[in-house]
Amino acid sequence: MSNSDKTQSPQNRVYIKNGQVVNHDRSFKADVYIEDEIIKFVGPAADITIPDGVHTIDASGKLIIPGGIDPHTHLQTPFDNAVTVDDFYHGTKAAVAGGTTMIIDFVLPKRNDSMIEAYNKWRSWADPKVCCDYGLHIGLSWWSDSVSEEIGVLCKELGINSFKTYMAYKGTYQLNDSELLDVFERIRSLNAVAMVHAENGDIIAKNEKRLLAQGITGPEGHELSRQEEVEAEAVHRACILAHQVDCPLYVVHVMSKSAGIEIARARQRYSEKYIFGETLASGLGTDGTNYRCQHFDHAAGHVMSPPLRPDKTTPEFLMKLLASDALQTTGSDNCTFTKKQKQLGLGDFTKIPNGINGLEDRMSVVWEKGVHSGLLDPCRFVAVTSTNAAKIFNIYPKKGVIAVGSDADIVIWNPQATRTISKDTHHHAGDFNIFEGMTVHGVPEYVLVRGRICAEKGSVRVSGGYGRFVATPLRPPFVYDRIEGKEEPKVEEQNTNVAKKKAELYSQLAA
Ligand code: URP
Ligand code: ZN
Ligand code: ZN
Repeated sequence: MSNSDKTQSPQNRVYIKNGQVVNHDRSFKADVYIEDEIIKFVGPAADITIPDGVHTIDASGKLIIPGGIDPHTHLQTPFDNAVTVDDFYHGTKAAVAGGTTMIIDFVLPKRNDSMIEAYNKWRSWADPKVCCDYGLHIGLSWWSDSVSEEIGVLCKELGINSFKTYMAYKGTYQLNDSELLDVFERIRSLNAVAMVHAENGDIIAKNEKRLLAQGITGPEGHELSRQEEVEAEAVHRACILAHQVDCPLYVVHVMSKSAGIEIARARQRYSEKYIFGETLASGLGTDGTNYRCQHFDHAAGHVMSPPLRPDKTTPEFLMKLLASDALQTTGSDNCTFTKKQKQLGLGDFTKIPNGINGLEDRMSVVWEKGVHSGLLDPCRFVAVTSTNAAKIFNIYPKKGVIAVGSDADIVIWNPQATRTISKDTHHHAGDFNIFEGMTVHGVPEYVLVRGRICAEKGSVRVSGGYGRFVATPLRPPFVYDRIEGKEEPKVEEQNTNVAKKKAELYSQLAA
């Protein structure tokens, strides 16, 4: 379907009956009624009279869950001498196909570029093309007084509350500790949220040179140049820097066991204030043994930063960290390049554009490796695929929950159905899928984006431009109430499974 295809019917009233609603804190049998993009009713059928002519969906045996929120995507982004092949149309179409109804993408200005001009550029790319709602983070690729000033405008006038800093990508985006402290201080003064890409860029630059000099030029060199401790050291340092200036910090793409443990330790040390952690569908669904594959396209297709880890026990370990609330969210870091683009790094792994897919498959991969394998309950699945992101970036309860008054971003999820992931059937623009051949339980049977049925039993009917920009307001209570001592730090109190697992983890860390 083309960008301009707007064949979708303007259905504005939908009744979902006989389903099991799953929110982050509880699961219950209920019907759901939607009118004009908003959830108007959640409860027993006996309590509502449905008007005639309403589109009715029977959700017997299915779950009614909040649409996924992917807090980490790079659509249509110039990065590593290439532009990501999923633009805002194909990327958000793939999102909807997989049960994700909102993304938060990264504006990534070049060094010395104006942050506000970059923001406007991303808005002009995204607004006409997005098939689902979206928000934006800003990547702070450099630091100066003017950047500091622009951050204020972005926060107060342009709907931004989150800024990503880089401890890696030496020579392009990397900031030093002194700059990081200044950035974190500024972000704290605005009641915004700092984000960090935590890898030690100085170590990586040295290792890359050494490996190339030794003749290690293939994709395996990528992981060798940035092994676990390079990530863990940066996570540890970032948490301390942020804490020193009282700034909340969201660590993006936690990819290794040791980095995950650093997050858990920091959360324990700071009474669950300040630090939040995200891991990725890729880190949960595949691993770094792929870098050893003799086929360049396959190995390079997995190149991303931080890399997937060759330790095959990593994916399950990361899932357990999600189960115990050491990590709170799952993203995709969808940053797709074609095989041809990846071949820019033939003969020099440092030139392989970094990035993988995951926007379409994140929900199913997390269900398969989390719920189907018995590590997550369905409520925790909802927490880590939508609610926690909505809370951290301050769009809850507009998004991330099935409740009266919330946007009707809803997925009717069939936990029994299976599908097999493939580049031949995915909705991404790219020609590679890191989950190729994986059969997953958990299929989105219906996907409603603000009340509109955009996917139905495998048929995806989206229209570019239907999605809207969603402002992320300052001072998320989920983040700042804790820091300001207005609310006791709490586990998902209603979820005793999470509380139990957290207690076990903390006692292991203390031992
Ligand atoms: O390899 C990755 N992760 N590409 C996207 C850029 C980033 O650092 O998130
Ligand atoms: Zn990053
Ligand atoms: Zn990223």
